[in-house]
Amino acid sequence: MDEWCGLMGCWLCGLYSVLAMLVVARLLVVTARGHNGEGIEHTQFSRHSHHGQGAPGRGRGAGARHPLKLIKCLLVTKPKKLKLPPGPWTLPLIGSMHHLVSNPLPYRAMRDLAHKHGPLMMLWLGEVPTVVVSSPEAAQAITKTHDITFADRHMNSTVGIFTFNGMDLIFGSYGEQWRQLRKLSVQELLSAARVQSFQRIREEEVGRFMQSLATSATAGTAVDLSKMIASFVNDTFVRESIGSRCKYQDEYLDALGTAMRMAAELSVANIFPSSRLLQNLSTALRRAMACRDWMAHIIGQIIRETKEAMDRADKTSNESFISVLLRLQKEASLPIELTDHIVMALMIDLFSAGSDSASTTLTWCMTELIRYPATMARAQSEVREAFKGKTTTITEDELARANLSYLKCVAKEALRLHCPVPLLLPRKCRETCQVMGYDIPKGTCVFVNVWAICRDAKYWEDPEEFRPERFENSSLDYKGTDYEFLPFGSGRRMCPGGNLGLANMELALASLLYHFDWKLPSGVEPKNVDVCEAPGLVAKKNTGLVLHPVVSRVFAPVNMPN
Ligand code: HEM
Repeated sequence: MDEWCGLMGCWLCGLYSVLAMLVVARLLVVTARGHNGEGIEHTQFSRHSHHGQGAPGRGRGAGARHPLKLIKCLLVTKPKKLKLPPGPWTLPLIGSMHHLVSNPLPYRAMRDLAHKHGPLMMLWLGEVPTVVVSSPEAAQAITKTHDITFADRHMNSTVGIFTFNGMDLIFGSYGEQWRQLRKLSVQELLSAARVQSFQRIREEEVGRFMQSLATSATAGTAVDLSKMIASFVNDTFVRESIGSRCKYQDEYLDALGTAMRMAAELSVANIFPSSRLLQNLSTALRRAMACRDWMAHIIGQIIRETKEAMDRADKTSNESFISVLLRLQKEASLPIELTDHIVMALMIDLFSAGSDSASTTLTWCMTELIRYPATMARAQSEVREAFKGKTTTITEDELARANLSYLKCVAKEALRLHCPVPLLLPRKCRETCQVMGYDIPKGTCVFVNVWAICRDAKYWEDPEEFRPERFENSSLDYKGTDYEFLPFGSGRRMCPGGNLGLANMELALASLLYHFDWKLPSGVEPKNVDVCEAPGLVAKKNTGLVLHPVVSRVFAPVNMPN
């Protein structure tokens, strides 16, 4: 039993080959115990209408798993009328999946559907009831008014494997463990002081990056800038995470890339979470387990090596993420036990949340600047004026003093036009509640389509244009309270790592614009530069950004470590 070829490509062949098995599987759902104990929620109410409107629920709950109990349940349970949000017509078993196949990028297909069905729209991803939010008002209702009700994450079977069943911070259920991990992250790992303590690492890695671009510029060769940005951010992030370069880095990042792709796939196991048969037959889940075990093996090795190093030299300054976590584990002063498994799950979280998002943002900044030469010229002149005459790496102190307001607008505009996490991370409704006049049943998965909101002409003038000026003299910020602009999310589950993410890209952006001019390969016009996103949780650029760097302000590296 395999996944539906990526997100949903080839879905028809997948559909027909699995349909028969799904019918059997649905029947088995009644008697089989749910795979993850969440079967109650997934089958708590049913979908009768072909217009996606909820019909009276039949109360198929935990007690209904036994056939006799099911009959009793059907006889005695009074149907409870739910007024579900509107949505497109559904098919048996696959629900609304056929509406999403028109586009490999689900947030685009969801935006088109929301135009017809409204800002609070009901979809069925197989048996998973799903609400898609597509307006600032609806986003505010979910992440502020009803924040605590939607403070859980929806975790599909694949993500369950990668997070040791939600033992982590990103997908952990809202509860004591999550609260402690969140507090630990905000106060110890991602605090302003910790971010600042990595300043030297960032400056060295930017220096190395500029040096390698200068070499290509001298040789007159083109570079794949998106690839170079990804390795620069990865190198920086690995050093922030474990304190040094890592011999397992390439293997680990390969496995992580696979994990990120798999987590976003709508595999059969993920859309029928209550079917134990499908979970057991899924090759996708077996591959996920192998990939998770490989990552755990590498992190386990890093944990062992770090513990040994910590025992040898009791160094506490400039701690990396892993040494902070292992110190806290040793001190045992937290209200929860920080087991090696939790440390592993947190390390996987930090890597998956921190690296791609920052490199993706920086790549989109450069892509759009290339597409808009006048904007590039304005950004370059601001940077070149601020650091006039400088030939060595710009430092973060200098960057902070220069207070480059236009460059900040460039970063904001890239985050608007290319939200790195277009659907945020899925939330789960903890209690049936009413939002904007509709019932959202317990267990519903909720996506906030920030990508669609950020491109909605109701809130943005010329939304498809890259215009950093729109943020000049504007108080709009990504603090999570301007609901038309939520690249870092909002509410209790908002991103705690924004400061680090921005710090990991801002100095590089300023340096790329200060030291180099950028030319497209001959024959390519700025407006023809590809802006398609790749499928996945993070909306990376689908194709490489191939450019010629031309030295404009000489770069002379100093004291470059190995
Ligand atoms: C430009 C960089 C980044 C962007 C655009 C970004 C975006 C996001 C978004 C949209 C969410 C989901 C928020 C929600 O559901 O409301 C999120 C969650 C999260 N991010 Fe980031 N992120 C970035 C960098 C980072 C970094 C550097 C780290 C840490 C190393 C990080 C750690 C996390 C964590 C732990 C969560 C889950 C929080 C929770 O569920 O409680 N992020 N991020």
